Amino acid sequence: MGTVIAVASGKGGTGKSSFCANIAVALCARGEKVLLIDTDAGLRSLDLILGMTNRVLFSYADVIEGNAGLKEAAVKHETVKNLRLLTAPATNRVFEREQIEALVQLAREHFTYTIIDCPAGMSDNVIDFCACADRAVVVSTPDHTSLRGGQKMGILMGEQGQQNVKIAVNRVRSSMINRGEAVNIDAAMDQAGLGLLGIVPEDKAIIACGNGGKLLAFEKKSPAWQAYFNIAGRIKGEKIRLLDSVPGRF
Ligand SMILES: Nc1ncnc2c1ncn2[C@@H]1O[C@H](COP(=O)(O)OP(=O)(O)OP(=O)(O)O)[C@@H](O)[C@H]1O
Ligand SMILES: [Mg+2]
Repeated sequence: MGTVIAVASGKGGTGKSSFCANIAVALCARGEKVLLIDTDAGLRSLDLILGMTNRVLFSYADVIEGNAGLKEAAVKHETVKNLRLLTAPATNRVFEREQIEALVQLAREHFTYTIIDCPAGMSDNVIDFCACADRAVVVSTPDHTSLRGGQKMGILMGEQGQQNVKIAVNRVRSSMINRGEAVNIDAAMDQAGLGLLGIVPEDKAIIACGNGGKLLAFEKKSPAWQAYFNIAGRIKGEKIRLLDSVPGRF
């Protein structure tokens, strides 16, 4: 049985979709069979980040409603072996928790890892996806508003039965932390009240790749890619030190 991980945030634009796409690619690079589920109805972005826009026909709503099977609806990535994407419906749909649970269980049976990219905040089915997953990750930038949103998400997930929640701090700039202009990582963990899964540095390559439809994984020297690759290892249970695991201290 595979592991299902929901990725959420309080505030928008913290880097959840970038995190999901790159963690999925990194898990595939580490030999796993991965399903990505985009649950951001109307605003889906994983197909764009992964260069799969023209190939997506069915959504997770079609799987829940029986219009398509999981294998038919989950599109294979052209170059990343063992990566499939199940996208969100074009317009917002709200399902019962039992229906979300059934979808999550189906994914668990067919993939070693399923990564669920949630829209920001606690709307509609976000909490259902987070509650039904085996674990959850809150992605936050190192600023007070984003961290407070992350803390609220963590509390709400706990109330809904999801106790295994960690934080990934994204867009970290060591120079700003060193100058005392940004929240440092210990303070970020304290403020969010969550244990640390990993840190992703600010990296222009993420934006360039997103705009060019290119995979970050091809940018082997990208500090963010190295951070994602390390986080994927930690997700698999490998002991990879935080902070100083790669050059650049991420
Ligand atoms: N570590 C990073 N360094 C530089 N840019 C980043 C980083 N992470 C994300 N970005 C950029 O930030 C923007 C928002 O990222 P992304 O779409 O992944 O956020 P999101 O949390 O999924 O947003 P939303 O809440 O709208 O779904 C994108 O332009 C992305 O390229
Ligand atoms: Mg997103």
